[in-house]
Amino acid sequence: MTRLTTKASAALRTTIVPKSSFRLTPRLTTTFPQSQQPRLTTIPLTQTRSLHQTSARPLPASEPFKLDRTKRLPEFFSLQDKVILISGGGRGVGLTQAEAVLEAGARVHVVDVLPDPSTDPDSPFSAVAKRATEELGTAITYHRVDVRDQQALNEVVQEIAKKEGRMDGLIAAAGIQQETPALEYSREDADKMLGVNVTGVFMTAQAVARVMIENGWTGSMVLIGSMSGTVANRGLICPAYNASKAAVLQLGRNLAAEWGEHGIRVNTLSPGYIVTAMTAGLFEAFPERRTAWPDANMLKRLSYPEEYRGAAIFLLSDASSFMTGADLRIDGGHCAW
Ligand SMILES: NC(=O)c1ccc[n+]([C@@H]2O[C@H](COP(=O)([O-])OP(=O)(O)OC[C@H]3O[C@@H](n4cnc5c(N)ncnc54)[C@H](O)[C@@H]3O)[C@@H](O)[C@H]2O)c1
Repeated sequence: MTRLTTKASAALRTTIVPKSSFRLTPRLTTTFPQSQQPRLTTIPLTQTRSLHQTSARPLPASEPFKLDRTKRLPEFFSLQDKVILISGGGRGVGLTQAEAVLEAGARVHVVDVLPDPSTDPDSPFSAVAKRATEELGTAITYHRVDVRDQQALNEVVQEIAKKEGRMDGLIAAAGIQQETPALEYSREDADKMLGVNVTGVFMTAQAVARVMIENGWTGSMVLIGSMSGTVANRGLICPAYNASKAAVLQLGRNLAAEWGEHGIRVNTLSPGYIVTAMTAGLFEAFPERRTAWPDANMLKRLSYPEEYRGAAIFLLSDASSFMTGADLRIDGGHCAW
């Protein structure tokens, strides 16, 4: 602690920061001539604390990282015996991620708004469920829930946590897409887009974080964003979707900031164009996109859901133990031109 000059001390005493205030200037660490004394700005706590301070609680004593040398590198990617919730896992990217998580050893619970696909033995979901039990020695369970229904989400997640006795992670993949010019967008459609893609992701993460924090469990969350959260897509007119994905990226950073002290990591995964049901309709309506979209990235092709499996397992597992508040963009170089 550097000593202050008498004048500086006196100046400080006259502008002393009340206990209930939040000081914006850095602490004095050196002796200043009076003309250069830094000015202290005080702002009442009620106006600033909720915006700029995430927690008044002391951080838990941090454990130094110690590499477990009994394990080889691939074992750090294991999700053996973990329990992972996947929203939007009824089909598409979410279901592909679910299969990867099952292969990594976890039990999976899916929340999705689709009618239960496990009742159809020929559905892709049923094929994954069959493989889980017969080949992988684990299980996937379907729960029909709309991610906009906060109460239902909380009930289902509480029920899973009680039954499984743990909750280790989340992939929030539920999402919708709509292509409409900004001048024609209705308020209802914009609300729906943000309701599913932003509030739905938020409430899913909240339900999972609640059971984790209540039980003192740590874990990792992956929120599926998009490269469209970073750039406006040339020739694809979806202002609300792109705004929703930008919001997912910012939500991820903020949840990471709040929950890091509980040992919960939160990252976003931002894919480029993927061939799924979501994009199939667009290719039918606009066949020229089959060539225009690949041409917009450095690898000159579209991607497939399977190409994001490794990233999700990396983010959920101990392989990414110091990663939080980050966005992992996998877009064939689309945004790097
Ligand atoms: N397909 C792409 O090119 C692409 C690119 C970047 C990001 N993404 C994102 O990846 C995620 C998965 O997309 P996809 O291509 O597999 O689409 P998809 O339409 O095949 O899958 C989305 C899933 O979310 C579910 N869902 C939708 N609304 C829901 C709600 N209210 N409650 C619960 N579940 C709901 C759907 O039923 C569906 O199973 C989305 O978040 C999407 O924005 C997709």
